[in-house]
Amino acid sequence: MSDAFFRTLARDAAVRYKSAGRFAYHFAFGKLTGDPAFAHILARGLIPDRSRILDLGCGQGLMAALLQTARDRCGNWPAGMSLPPDPVAYCGIDVERRSIERAKHAVDGTAHFVCADIRSVPFDAADTVILLDVLHYLDYRAQEHLLRRVCDAMKAGGRMLLRVADESSTLRFRCTVAIDRVLMTLRGQRIDRLYCRPVAAWIRMLEAHGFHVTATPMSAGTPFANVLLCARYDAERGNEASPALRVHDDELPGSRSRTHARCFSRGIERACSVPVRDGRPQHLCRGDSGAR
Ligand SMILES: C[S@@+](CC[C@H](N)C(=O)[O-])C[C@H]1O[C@@H](n2cnc3c(N)ncnc32)[C@H](O)[C@@H]1O
Repeated sequence: MSDAFFRTLARDAAVRYKSAGRFAYHFAFGKLTGDPAFAHILARGLIPDRSRILDLGCGQGLMAALLQTARDRCGNWPAGMSLPPDPVAYCGIDVERRSIERAKHAVDGTAHFVCADIRSVPFDAADTVILLDVLHYLDYRAQEHLLRRVCDAMKAGGRMLLRVADESSTLRFRCTVAIDRVLMTLRGQRIDRLYCRPVAAWIRMLEAHGFHVTATPMSAGTPFANVLLCARYDAERGNEASPALRVHDDELPGSRSRTHARCFSRGIERACSVPVRDGRPQHLCRGDSGAR
């Protein structure tokens, strides 16, 4: 998909927000054209056709607006590119009322938007779950709880698209967090703390819930440290992994007194982060043969 074609799509998608006000329109255009994730997801066909989509922390519904605009352009779609997905259902959920109102202005058809807290609202059944720049607002326990509920809503083979920040000591990561805080303050949302993880830890958490994960850097042209995780759900793997996972629930990443270990759970080898006490790695995985 050429940059010029995507830019036209993004502009048309942004125009949908004009009736919701200047901010909504300019924000939509700026985010759709400046953030590489939207073009990447569309161009790579990462959302399967005929999906039931759950967009958690959907903001003003940019992905839904983009997909709807793309579907309207199907007759004029670049040759050789698979057609944009046509969701059978699209449910966007966000806790911020104004964003949900803007989404409702911009998107119609099969999409519906709900103002609610994703930590507690019941989820519809879904094949594709989208979580772009959201998970780090939930504390670590809530992240795990949310993933368990996503797994319950999804059948095997379902997929999740997550965009996360890769925590590190780099300037890029600090910049990501600083700009995130400014944007949330401008939205009137107070955040005391963000719950980030290094990308390897995000992947470990998803794998422990039964996902196969591929990671793609997603910061091109921006000062951010963002990564797109494409996670395919394998229910059987999830059942295997869950006992060990629960033991890790209350272990917060980032603690200095931790070390890496190879753990074995029911024959599956995993990279684990385990706490160190009295200079010795403490083994956490229930039923395992020990940290090595
Ligand atoms: C950085 S924005 C991303 C919006 C959208 N995913 C996108 O990429 O355009 C994060 C969104 O998550 C929402 N959010 C944060 N915590 C939430 C919660 N507990 N329940 C629902 N939405 C939440 C915020 O209101 C905000 O709209």
